[in-house]
Amino acid sequence: MPEKETLRLTPSADDLERAAALLRAGELVAFPTETVYGLGADACNGQAVAGIYAAKGRPSFNPLIAHFPDAETAQAYVEWSDLAERLATAFWPGPLTLVLPLKPGHGISELTTAGLDTLGVRVPAHPTAQRLLRAFGGPVAAPSANPSGRISPTTADHVLAGLAGRIAAVVDDGPCPVGVESTILGLVGAPVLLRPGGVAAEAIEALLGAPLPRRSGEAAINAPGQLRSHYAPRASVRLNAETPEPGELFLGFGPRDGELNLSPSGDLAEAAANLFGYLHALDARGAPIAVAPVPDRGLGAAINDRLRRAAAPRES
Ligand code: TXA
Ligand code: MG
Repeated sequence: MPEKETLRLTPSADDLERAAALLRAGELVAFPTETVYGLGADACNGQAVAGIYAAKGRPSFNPLIAHFPDAETAQAYVEWSDLAERLATAFWPGPLTLVLPLKPGHGISELTTAGLDTLGVRVPAHPTAQRLLRAFGGPVAAPSANPSGRISPTTADHVLAGLAGRIAAVVDDGPCPVGVESTILGLVGAPVLLRPGGVAAEAIEALLGAPLPRRSGEAAINAPGQLRSHYAPRASVRLNAETPEPGELFLGFGPRDGELNLSPSGDLAEAAANLFGYLHALDARGAPIAVAPVPDRGLGAAINDRLRRAAAPRES
């Protein structure tokens, strides 16, 4: 694809107007959310969404999440339910994506949905994402703003390192506070956890008053968007390492200290916020990476999910 100059915009009102105008013109704009930076395009414009797949080099069977400023605007596109309402009241705006049936005449591009009759809807809490979505005034399709299969970006510099010259602009508003992508909850039929993420599954179970079935590992891998080697650094990654082998860079957690430590105090929220940035930093040094064990509760489930994918055999 022809190289273009990628603008680095600020969160000022003028720059967000400019970003919204670029989206209206069918251009790609990366923007911060509380989870990771998203690569945004007008979700109703097939040509614009095709640009996302081209810029990321992403397999085209992978459906994208549509972003809205609030639940009311999302409800114009999907079949709402009492359960969706309770979840939205509890967790929106915030890092939870709900997969719901599309309404007839929704106008969302088939490239956004990958031809499915459902849509992943998300209302991000990040104030800059909120302002951009309101300025644009329609659904914004946005996967994480990284080349397909690589580590997700939590700073504008990560975005530019992967996509400079392939997208019109990035709105730079510093690091993302949550650091792992949204939790994805399937609500077509009984609720099912499709991806662990920034809202702990335990918090959703507390609201449901029932255990939340996880889609099984193999099914998840075969389903769209669950490619095993997502989030992969270039270097090999070894998990649950008590200590590093000679030549390995050690990513610590809690009392197991290393080159970098996800959270010396063992705080899972801090570890999630540091995860992708530290993987980017260690990956830049080119040596194999070993990672200390991280407990599998709360945000630890999302962290371990991303680490397993980082360590998985590469697809290509
Ligand atoms: O935190 C996030 O969710 C970030 C920020 C930018 O909002 N976005 C993100 O998007 O992580 P992406 O494209 O990297 O991951 C979206 C995941 C994919 O695994 C995709 O398969 C799944 O969501 N997904 C999207 N729509 C779906 C649908 N209708 N049914 C099942 N899964 C869906
Ligand atoms: Mg992604």
